[in-house]
Amino acid sequence: MTTTTQPEKTESMYDRIGGASTVTRVVDRLYTLILDDSLLRPTFHDTDLAPLKRHMAALLSQVLDGPKAYTGRDLATVHKPVAITDAQYRSVADYLLACLYIEHAPADVLAAVAETLTALQATVVSADSDPAAAGVST
Ligand code: HEM
Repeated sequence: MTTTTQPEKTESMYDRIGGASTVTRVVDRLYTLILDDSLLRPTFHDTDLAPLKRHMAALLSQVLDGPKAYTGRDLATVHKPVAITDAQYRSVADYLLACLYIEHAPADVLAAVAETLTALQATVVSADSDPAAAGVST
């Protein structure tokens, strides 16, 4: 029996879901779902989708330990003027996970992305969805 001195190569999450072509399909489907949702569509009326999709694909690649690094704008700065609510955020997060699921992403990859989405929520959400906290008198 031979022993190998090579360290075992562990495949990244990016490779395990199928690499660049899968990421592209996930992002395409994500924005199809977003633009089909009346709660989300209005926020994108002024947005050029091509660079948005490129940035989202790079961000997802980075989160999955893939080769692309995110070079877009700071996520808090970009989203602040959009005044995103928790409900909008949850919808986009669920759509992203659904798109990964459709591509047969393994459970540990879905869990890792879900964890990142939870961590990112406070950065992206800036609108107060609670009328009392927003200073609306009852
Ligand atoms: C789920 C977490 C989210 C992630 C990871 C994310 C990621 C991104 C990225 C990477 C960009 C491009 C930044 C750039 O071009 O420099 C972007 C832009 C944008 N996002 Fe999100 N986003 C999220 C949630 C949302 C939600 C919930 C909404 C609204 C419902 C939203 C609305 C927008 C809009 C309108 C832009 C374009 C802003 C502009 O071009 O000025 N995003 N987002």
